[in-house]
Formats: sequence, structure tokens, C-alpha cells
Amino acid sequence: MRTFRIVGAAALFMFSTGVLQAQTGEQQKMKTFIDGLMKKMTIDEKIGQLNLVVGGEATTGSVVSTDVDTKIRKGQVGGIFSVTSPGRIRKIQELAVNQSRLKIPIIFGLDVIHGYKTIFPIPLGLASTWDMNLIEQSARIAAQEASADGLNWTFSPMVDVSRDPRWGRISEGSGEDPYLGSVIAKAMVRGYQGKSLADNNTIMACVKHFALYGAAEAGRDYNTTDMSRVRMYNDYLPPYKAAIDAGVGSVMSSFNEIDGIPATANKWLLTDVLRKQWGFKGMVVSDYTSVNEMIDHGMGDLQQVSALALKAGLDMDMVGEGFLTTLKKSLNEGKVTVADIDRACRMVLEAKYKLGLFEDPYRYCDENRARTEIFNEANRRKAREIAAKSFVLLKNQQQVLPLQKKGTIALVGPLANAKENMVGTWSVAADVTKPISLLAGLKEVLGANGKVLYAKGANVTEDSLLEVRTSIFGKPFERDNRPADVMIREALAAAEQADVVVAALGELAEMTGEASSRSDLTLPQSQVNLLQALVKTGKPVVVVLFTGRPLAIPDVDKIAPAILNVWFGGSEAGHAIADVLFGDINPSGKLTATFPMNVGQVPIYYSHKNTGRPLNGQWFQKFRSNYLDVPNEPLYPFGYGLSYTTFTYGDLKLSSQSLKGNQRLTASITVTNTGKYAGEEVVQLYIRDVVGTNTRPLKELKGFQKISLQPGESRQVSFTITPEDLKFYNHELKYDWEAGDFTIFIGGNARDLKSGQVNWQK
Ligand code: NOJ
Repeated sequence: MRTFRIVGAAALFMFSTGVLQAQTGEQQKMKTFIDGLMKKMTIDEKIGQLNLVVGGEATTGSVVSTDVDTKIRKGQVGGIFSVTSPGRIRKIQELAVNQSRLKIPIIFGLDVIHGYKTIFPIPLGLASTWDMNLIEQSARIAAQEASADGLNWTFSPMVDVSRDPRWGRISEGSGEDPYLGSVIAKAMVRGYQGKSLADNNTIMACVKHFALYGAAEAGRDYNTTDMSRVRMYNDYLPPYKAAIDAGVGSVMSSFNEIDGIPATANKWLLTDVLRKQWGFKGMVVSDYTSVNEMIDHGMGDLQQVSALALKAGLDMDMVGEGFLTTLKKSLNEGKVTVADIDRACRMVLEAKYKLGLFEDPYRYCDENRARTEIFNEANRRKAREIAAKSFVLLKNQQQVLPLQKKGTIALVGPLANAKENMVGTWSVAADVTKPISLLAGLKEVLGANGKVLYAKGANVTEDSLLEVRTSIFGKPFERDNRPADVMIREALAAAEQADVVVAALGELAEMTGEASSRSDLTLPQSQVNLLQALVKTGKPVVVVLFTGRPLAIPDVDKIAPAILNVWFGGSEAGHAIADVLFGDINPSGKLTATFPMNVGQVPIYYSHKNTGRPLNGQWFQKFRSNYLDVPNEPLYPFGYGLSYTTFTYGDLKLSSQSLKGNQRLTASITVTNTGKYAGEEVVQLYIRDVVGTNTRPLKELKGFQKISLQPGESRQVSFTITPEDLKFYNHELKYDWEAGDFTIFIGGNARDLKSGQVNWQK
């Protein structure tokens, strides 16, 4: 045993030294290559590498790139995004490689956010799986497909923590929690980048939007953010840092300001934190015209803001061409240095080198791969599986669900037959004629066993202007111009003939996403009217809720016996929903963002502080921290989600009540499946630091395990806790733990928990 250990340790040492040497050797090779190349480059050519242009298939601002071919020939383009297909990309690459003086290949990017052509659930839905393996697989498939179509760079993962469901882009992230957001960030980076960026089926990831974009004031997109450093470091920065630690190749700066300086020109953020504190070695790109937008922020003219951005640490300028058109002038006037330009240019060239583009600029241009690896059967099957695991069962009174595969089902609602909406926001490459609608999925899974009667029942909203606003970004909608009562009557006629009613309600896909903030989080009145009428029939009603954000729907919760939240499930949404409705798959998703009672509770999140006047017991109490008109509690808490079976938690057992130094604590609990179905449960660990030099949250997620149990089966679930899990940034931004009492909680959501106490001394 002893001999083995020595041999093992020595071998490990030799192995890791070998790996280190190989890595340093690789880095040296890259440096030598890029030094050589940069020696040949003129200042104009170096500035040209910093220019990222848009190809026109998906633009997210009013400015678009022009004269792209000419610019490529002149060496004025470093990267292009939003062009797809190996044929088109090869042609553009040929321009760069054959017709520009130095033949530097171009990097090709796209917003591959939750899948490329095979679309997975929106990121908020993906997060709700709490399954890192599946999340990684979704990113792996996305990379496989995107790289087969000529791409080598994605603007994902988006890891902005958000506690404000008014913000439309909450749909693109993982929700409110920094710990969960961090593990997901890592899984996504692993999925996209695989083992090596140089492999032809991996793509470079870009963590965004650095930083704090999810904390826009009032949930209005692009709005100001302002928060303490303590909050930044503890609650908002960890997921970006996690992506950096996982080796993400690039970072995108955000639109918002931080401490009064837009992120895109924020030296503290882009250099001090990102490079110096976190050791990031990759490329930093701006968001879409975010350099130019600093003019409107009030930071100066284009020359000035471009110089500010470069000096702050920005390497690549997306679309706005402030770098391209002003940096030389700034250099001549002494406002930027050659060293500043060299640094940025090196970052861009290194990214291309790591992707293997200097070795073979066409390595991602394989027509055959494009034919076989995109939107194929296997990828769609995986999308169906993942979608089903992302759904969250919010309510299931008297076991209305699962449905039996027989009889007549009335499927009503504006989202029932809306396949173009299934892929959700920000799925730019999707063919919206391909997704499976709920109507199609339900019919197919039910087959000849029963009958589906369909009626639209209502428009998504009576506000036709709102509908128009939400269709600007690519998703068509079909408004039904019949009067509301005629539509409801048709739905009721279907319901009368049915054994059960499935009501497909919620938001349109583009009611969330970029520039789609809402000040009202309720279900639109047209749909509430429909639901009320359906419930009155006395037939069991199952609400299938489509949404890209937490909604405030206490009225729906009150009257609907069952609610299945299905987000926007992607290409296979309709099949996946049917799989869950009929019980072929038992729902296991859990919320990663709190559902409020009303919009006035926002921002709302589980890991809040106690305050000096917490509400002890019942609402309402004068001179206590609460509202006159609504309790403090949310509608559905973080981590919440039901199953067709039931799970019972035993008592929490701690391996010790008092610990010292680097000792470890084991917290265990026995979970039993007390229902009739096999099912999966996400067992969650939270910790509260009871007394500190800084006030601490009431609880913070520190671990979770997704387990699978047969009916009647019990399993002991254990978590190992070390002082590392107790650390936080204090008011001096010192990252450490403090001795004292801690409460350990384990349970199935952030509200219903078993707890125990420990004392931990240094
Ligand atoms: C703007 C968005 O904020 C960002 O997420 C996206 O990657 C870029 N547009 C490029 O499309």
C-alpha cells in the first residue's frame, strides 16, 4: 500500500510536471508565432484585428456593418458574427486568407445561446434541471452543430445573476443564485470548449455580460446598475469568475455602468478585477456598439470613448468601429500607446491561434459535417429529454396529473398551437417552422388511444400593440381577430366534450429577452378570462404555463388545480410536454428564480438579509419590515418544484456540533420516495452564518444533489462541508470565514428545510 502510494504520488508529480512543461511549451510556441506575425503588421493592420463586424443575419441594434468585403481585403476585420454555413464562411475566409496582405484568418461568431439549430430550453429552463451533466451536454451539442456550420465562437454563457423578473433577459441566464450560476457557468464552458479549442467540433465560449448587467435598475434593459462592492463580490461576480476558472476563451463587456463608468471602459473591472485579480488571459470583446454608446452615457466623443475602452482593457470592438476609425488618431495624439494596441491585437491573434485557424483557416468548413451533424435525430432526442427535465410542476391538486392516455382532452389557449414560440428568445439559428407545438406533441404521444380537441380560446393579450412589439425580433404571430367572447365560447364547447382541459397559457417568446422588459408580471387579462371560464365548467384544468421569467400569478394558482411551468422548451417542446403530462417522464425541475406574489415585491430572492426588524411570525406587524398589502413570502420559492411522487425528508444529522480549523462536517439526511412513481429530487444544502462582522444572508445555497428514487426507496444523502464553504467577502473585501455558529439546512426548496446548528472555531 505504502509503496503504491509513493509510486502513485511520484508518477502524479512526474505527470503533472510533464503536463505543465507541455503547456508552457505550447504557450512559448504561440508567443513566438504571434511575435513574428506582429513584427510584420502595420499599426493599421493591428487596429484592423480589433474590429468585429456583423454579417447581417441577426442584428441587435440600429447600426449594421458596411463594405465588409473591402474591409476584409484591407485587413480591417478581425472577426465576423452572424454569418453561418460552411460555404458562406469559406468564401469570406478566402477573402481574408487570399486577398489581405498578411492573410490573417477571421474568427466567426454567433449567439449560440441554448442550442444552434437543435434548440434546448431557454437558459432559465436549462438551469431548472439542476443537472450539470445535461446542461453540459446541451452546450456540447450546440458546439458540435455550430462548428459543423462553420462557426468557432459563441457569445455564451450568459451568467448575469438577476433578481428582477421585470428584466426580459432573466430568461437568458441561470436565475438568482451565485453558487448555482457558477456551477452552470463551468458546465457550459466545458460543453462548448471541450478538451481543446483546436478540435474542429469545439467553439470558443464568451462569458457575458461582464458585469452586473442583470441588476439593471427597475428591470429596464440597459439601465444603470449601482451596488456595493460587497454585494458584487459575494452575489454577482462569482459566476463570471467561475467561467474564467473553467478556462473560458473570451469575455464580453456589458452595456451598463458600474460605479459611474460604463463596463466597456471600466479599467477597474476589465483590468484590475479580470486580469490582475482573476488572471484572465483571453480576449475581451465589447457588446453590440457598446463603445459608441458611451457617447450617450456622457463619456465623450467617439475618439475619446474608444481610447477609454482600449486603455481600460477592451480588445475587440463589436460593430461600432470606434477603434477602427479613431485609434490611429489617438495614437498620434498620444492618447493611447502602441503597447495598448499591441496588447489588444495579441489577444485577438491568440484566440485565433488557439482555435487552430492559423494552421487551417477552413477547419470548421466541412459541408459533410453540416449535412449530418446538425438537427439530427440524436440531437433532437437529447433536446426532448432535457426539455422534459426543465419543466417545473408548480401545483398538482388531487393528482390531476399525470393524465391518462385515453379519453378526450380539450387543448385550449394561445400557446397551444404556436410552434414558432417554442424555441424561446435568442435562438437566432433556429428554423421556426421546425419546432413541435404542444398540439402536435400531444396528438402524437396520445396516438390512437384518445382524442384531442383544439381551440385557441384567446389571444396572448388583448393589447395588439404589445403583440406587435413582441414580434419585431423575428417571431411572427397570428392574431385571431374574432371577438374575445366568441373565442372563449369555442373553447368552452371543446371543454364540455372533454374529460380534462389542458390550457396552454403564458407569454410569447419575445415578451422576454433583450429589450423586452415588463412592468407587469401577471398573466394578461384575456388569458385570465379564458382560464376562469374553463375552471367554471367543473372539468379538471391543467395549466401549461409558457414563460421566460418568473410571473406573478397568485390568481392562476388560486383557481387552477394543476400548473406545469414549461418555459420555452426548444425544438422538441411539444413532445417533451406531452411526455410529462402523460407521466412518461416524472417532472423534476426546480425553480432557480423566485416567483413573486406581485411586481411590488421585486427584487425578490431567497438569500436576503434579516434586517433589524424582521417579521417574526405573522404578517402584518407595525414597525416591522413588511408590506401593508402583501406578505413578504413569494408565491413559489427558489428551489421549489413538485413531482408526481412525494419525497419525505428525515431529520438532519450532523457529524459534529463543534468543529475546529480545517475539519470537515458531514451533513446527512434520509430522503424517501413516499409516493407511487419513481422520481428525481434535487436535495439542496443551505448554510447560514449566524453572527458575523458583516450582516449575512438568512441562507445561501452551498450544494445540491439530484437523486433518483423508486417508490418506497430511501437514500441517505450526505454533504461534506469545509471552511471553504463558509467564506465570504467582508466590508474590506477580504475573502475568509469567521468563527462562530452556523445553521445547516437541507431540503427540497429554500423554504421547506430541516436544520441543525454547529459551532466552528478557527
Ligand atoms: C447584444 C447582446 O446584448 C449580446 O448578448 C449579444 O451577444 C450581442 N448583441 C451580439 O448579438
